Amino acid sequence: MFTLKSSFLWSLWLAGAFSLPAQQPLQIAGPGLTRRKLHGRFLHITDIHPDPYYIADASQSSACHRKKPRKEEERSGYYGTPYSDCDSPFRLTNLTLDFLDKNWASEIDFVIWTGDNARHDNDRKLPRTLKEIYELNNVVATRMNDVFLSRGIPVVPSLGNNDVWPVGGCEYNDRDDPGNLQFDWLEVQLELFRGRGMQVWLSGHVPPSPGNYFDECYVRYVELSLRFQDTILGHLYGHMNNDHFFFVEAKDLDFSSDPEDAAQIDGTAQASAHDQLYDTLIKDFAELPKSGKKTEYADYAVVNVAPSVVPNPYLPSFRIFSYNVTGAGSELKKKKKKKEPKRKHGHRPGGGSRDKLCKEARYQDSWRCKLREPWHTDAEAPSRQNTLWSPLGYAQYYLPGERVMNKTHRPQFKLEYLTYRASALVPAEGDEYPVPPRHLPGSLRGGNGTGTKYTPYGMEDLTLGSWLRLARALGGGTKGKLRGRFRRYMYMSE
Ligand SMILES: *[C@@H]1O[C@H](CO)[C@@H](O)[C@H](O)[C@H]1NC(C)=O
Ligand SMILES: *[C@@H]1O[C@H](CO)[C@@H](O)[C@H](O)[C@H]1NC(C)=O
Ligand SMILES: *[C@@H]1O[C@H](CO)[C@@H](O)[C@H](O)[C@H]1NC(C)=O
Ligand SMILES: *[C@@H]1O[C@H](CO)[C@@H](O)[C@H](O)[C@H]1NC(C)=O
Repeated sequence: MFTLKSSFLWSLWLAGAFSLPAQQPLQIAGPGLTRRKLHGRFLHITDIHPDPYYIADASQSSACHRKKPRKEEERSGYYGTPYSDCDSPFRLTNLTLDFLDKNWASEIDFVIWTGDNARHDNDRKLPRTLKEIYELNNVVATRMNDVFLSRGIPVVPSLGNNDVWPVGGCEYNDRDDPGNLQFDWLEVQLELFRGRGMQVWLSGHVPPSPGNYFDECYVRYVELSLRFQDTILGHLYGHMNNDHFFFVEAKDLDFSSDPEDAAQIDGTAQASAHDQLYDTLIKDFAELPKSGKKTEYADYAVVNVAPSVVPNPYLPSFRIFSYNVTGAGSELKKKKKKKEPKRKHGHRPGGGSRDKLCKEARYQDSWRCKLREPWHTDAEAPSRQNTLWSPLGYAQYYLPGERVMNKTHRPQFKLEYLTYRASALVPAEGDEYPVPPRHLPGSLRGGNGTGTKYTPYGMEDLTLGSWLRLARALGGGTKGKLRGRFRRYMYMSE
């Protein structure tokens, strides 16, 4: 968790780039591999951070590398050390991948794996080398291959800031800047896939927030997210090691954004900064237009940040999304030529202070002033309305702290919470279960679970409107209990 403003290394997950004509999540062809049936689920795993020097019963102040402390509570744990600054023992990496292998690999269609596969460089006595970074990535990639790819399950990786070293800042006039080149590439890809009527997920390591990205890079990210809102299913990130979501918004493209605010959603670790992140998010949610007012959905995209495998500084976790596969494979037959939806007045980027300020020399060569393409927005797109490929919900799993420390009993991941309504856990006739019942606590298996122990959000699906509703409820100030849950999940306070 370093604040490297430049590490926005994402991959574009093309739900089906290589299997035209009908869009199908990417299939690996090869001898002995048959085309798999779609389950409508995928895994998001991030920030594994294995550390080959980790030993159990070492001191946390030595990054869990040496010096057994006298007090038991200061010692490192067997499968990792919850709520510490230590990285993961390989034992935890293996436990996690073995668990996924045994319990989930046959239930999912693909894996989104958002980086940071090396230990942190946090021990002066054992500086991390480039060779070590490559080796650790190699070890984790080999395991991902064994567990998923070898069975024909595509794995979509991205590099993390601990896997590489920094790139540039997207200055408008520096067209060879690596950041600009990457955005140029992304723009071309989005254009291409939109042209084919395909839907994509954007995934990467460092979430696109003003505090994490250089300002000009952030502007390009926001603009592309909104310009291709009809093509992007969602935005999945890691790096922060804590569970949250936020919006990128059209107003971020104005010149008025407050740099003080922006500085807060960044990757600066540690509890106090994280408390600040919670406060900042709630404040942002409270400033969303109220539900009675007409919300301009074209102005928002939601970014989901998943917590880490490394229990630094919380608990090991992974996330299983479900998505709508009703009618997958037959969509081409049904597809009618869609007319380009008309933009309402006021939705062309620009206007407000921008037009005036862009005449000034100091602003005219900035991305805010140069990006004038019309935005592709469509109320019937899968990011906006529950239809084929729409994200429906996710199940968040974690390893409780005392289990991570327990040497004698191999820990098992547990359900932490669901975004779904309890009633949605039993699918309609012919549909897949969003979460296989064997991966639910008994109380939820019948689909009539009472109370909201695991289902406080009760979200209908994960379209933009559902996220805005949840954010408004969290920002509204009357739902103290809901906020408490959101905060608890953010910081994994058991
Ligand atoms: C982790 O798994 C790999 C591959 O199965 C194995 O070679 C390695 O020894 C394991 N490490 C630990 C610490 O269990
Ligand atoms: C998937 O989308 C279709 C519309 O295309 C809808 O009828 C169906 O209810 C959705 N499935 C789920 C599980 O929400
Ligand atoms: C480890 O877990 C087992 C099973 O839950 C439990 O009986 C045992 O007391 C635990 N050991 C410690 C040291 O907490
Ligand atoms: C859930 O519903 C089913 C069928 O309606 C019923 O048989 C079962 O007892 C219910 N379970 C609980 C925990 O209420």
